[in-house]
Amino acid sequence: MKPVEWIGNALRYLDQTLLPTQEVFRETTDFREVAEAIKSLRIRGAPLIGISAAYGLCLGALEGTTRQNDFYPFLERVDSILRSTRPTAVNLFWALDRMKKIWQEAQKNATLPEETCSRLIEEATTIEREDEAMNRKIAELGASLIQDGDVILTHCNAGALACGAWGTALGAIYWAQLKEGKKIQVYADETRPLLQGARLTAYELTRNGIPTRVICDNMAAFMMQQGKINKIIVGADRIATNGDTANKIGTYSLAVLARYHNIPFYVAAPTSTIDFEIVEGSQIPIEERNAAEIKYWKEHQIVPEKAEVENPAFDITPNTLITAIITEQGILYPPFQEKILSIRRKIER
Ligand code: MRU
Repeated sequence: MKPVEWIGNALRYLDQTLLPTQEVFRETTDFREVAEAIKSLRIRGAPLIGISAAYGLCLGALEGTTRQNDFYPFLERVDSILRSTRPTAVNLFWALDRMKKIWQEAQKNATLPEETCSRLIEEATTIEREDEAMNRKIAELGASLIQDGDVILTHCNAGALACGAWGTALGAIYWAQLKEGKKIQVYADETRPLLQGARLTAYELTRNGIPTRVICDNMAAFMMQQGKINKIIVGADRIATNGDTANKIGTYSLAVLARYHNIPFYVAAPTSTIDFEIVEGSQIPIEERNAAEIKYWKEHQIVPEKAEVENPAFDITPNTLITAIITEQGILYPPFQEKILSIRRKIER
């Protein structure tokens, strides 16, 4: 099941807020709807946000062809609306930067809008294809760290629903079980407040025949204490050059628990998730989401109106708590900085 797909000149996407009970695909030709879908987490997960924003820009470009003289200024506005959707996942900015390079070059050469649209669609398609290839490599490399009989804890959703193909953390699990025949069990943290673990990870793993148990986030420590978990694999939204990693809120506490219980803690992510411009995790912007996500469960109020809440959507796991980072360029072990910088040199060459 592809969570987003470019068909004709439209974007078809799975509304992830309705899972696991309803599989509803929507189709749009409006970049504003793509921006709204990213903001509201109908489309979510770092790589998928990047891919969808790239296609969103294509929709904006197609709309802009009717504004001949205003075409490039219009693209500038489309770009900034898409950029303002979610601040933490760097894949959004990475993908829009790639798109911007194309349309700025076209603008410089006074390329006709229709021609620019074709080039943009080609680039967005390439971004999607590259993500698929990176997923495959991460899955294969990640599987080499998984042994037959492993019981793996994961957090949030870093699977096919969050990417162009296999997923990252879940990709490794799929590869190990489906390609290599290793028997694996997964614990999926429910992942408060929006329940990506319970709703999405459990949904896709069980559809693929991976035995999965959902636990509330506050049960993970007890499971580790009881010796029920022997590996943790999570995804990432942004990795600093020193290896500090932003991922869904609750990831950091798992890494601390993993260290205490002597459990390997792996991060799986494509290099499009590495922010080579920042040195350490404290520079990563953390999205603060609406209080209503904590105060209400659907229409039911679960927190007194007068109580204040905080709702950071991500946290930062310090590099010192990470056993390895699995990228499509290889498995990186600490210290990370030099290895990450050498990946940068390789990519930019
Ligand atoms: O708020 P979300 O659902 O977009 O958060 C997603 C995560 O935290 C994932 O772990 C991360 O994006 C990696 S997806 C391969």
